[in-house]
Amino acid sequence: MTGPLLSVRDLAVTVTTRREVVRAVRGISFDIGADEAVGFVGESGSGKSITAKALMRLAPEGTAIALTGSIALRGQDILGLGEAEMRGLRGRRIAMVFQDPMTSLNPVMSIGAQMGDMLRRHLALSGRAARERGIELLDLVGIPDAARRIDDHPHQFSGGQRQRILIAIAISCEPDLLIADEPTTALDVTVQAQILRLLLRLREERGMALMLITHDFGVVAGMVDRVNVMYRGEIVESGPVGQVFAEPQHGYTRALLDAVPRLQGTAG
Ligand SMILES: Nc1ncnc2c1ncn2[C@@H]1O[C@H](COP(=O)(O)OP(=O)(O)OP(=O)(O)O)[C@@H](O)[C@H]1O
Ligand SMILES: [Mg+2]
Repeated sequence: MTGPLLSVRDLAVTVTTRREVVRAVRGISFDIGADEAVGFVGESGSGKSITAKALMRLAPEGTAIALTGSIALRGQDILGLGEAEMRGLRGRRIAMVFQDPMTSLNPVMSIGAQMGDMLRRHLALSGRAARERGIELLDLVGIPDAARRIDDHPHQFSGGQRQRILIAIAISCEPDLLIADEPTTALDVTVQAQILRLLLRLREERGMALMLITHDFGVVAGMVDRVNVMYRGEIVESGPVGQVFAEPQHGYTRALLDAVPRLQGTAG
């Protein structure tokens, strides 16, 4: 079948908590091609994470979401799927590295057990095959001495290593689309660059599509093909990343670019 991997049209997301009802995403449309990397950039609260979660029909903790519009994955309408079908899709066809790496890993389970869960569930691997696959994946994302470290618990790894482990879990079932939500925010600059390089390399090797979410235009430069700029629940600008950098059309995009001093030419 031709056409983009993911096609989102007029998506609106309402988030309901015990205290309020918020229109977090207000009718956005975008496509992601099967081998494309697409950036989503915008200030805090602009709706980036809610958009990503909506693609997997996940609500933020303690909330309920209502979705309108359409989300098609290889032409199949996700909003029409039942919950059992969604469970088969999450992690398998669309996988996400969530924004908060500390809370995304279970502190009382070994890394191997957490990886095994996903591999047994989606790929029906035996315990032993899942363990072997887990070691390969840890190796792939650059965890030294993976065969020994697979039995360690999250607190025994550095922040950068935990992020690598989350990436390993996310790609373990070879998803079509990997969503990385602020994958480097909690990390120091050197480690940030390493993690971004890892994401780029994996995307190339595995031919995945990548949705990269960040509030930092500096992070998407050199990483993505196209960028969507979000502001208050809407996409206010989108285009090839070089073009958006060179000729931002929207005042809000210009403001975001002005906040990235290292991109403005003079080095040092
Ligand atoms: N847990 C929540 N409870 C209530 N409202 C929420 C919750 N999470 C998000 N929202 C609403 O959805 C809007 C968009 O939130 P979202 O998390 O998508 O922002 P974001 O762009 O990812 O921001 P950040 O850069 O801080 O991660 C928020 O402004 C808020 O109104
Ligand atoms: Mg967010």
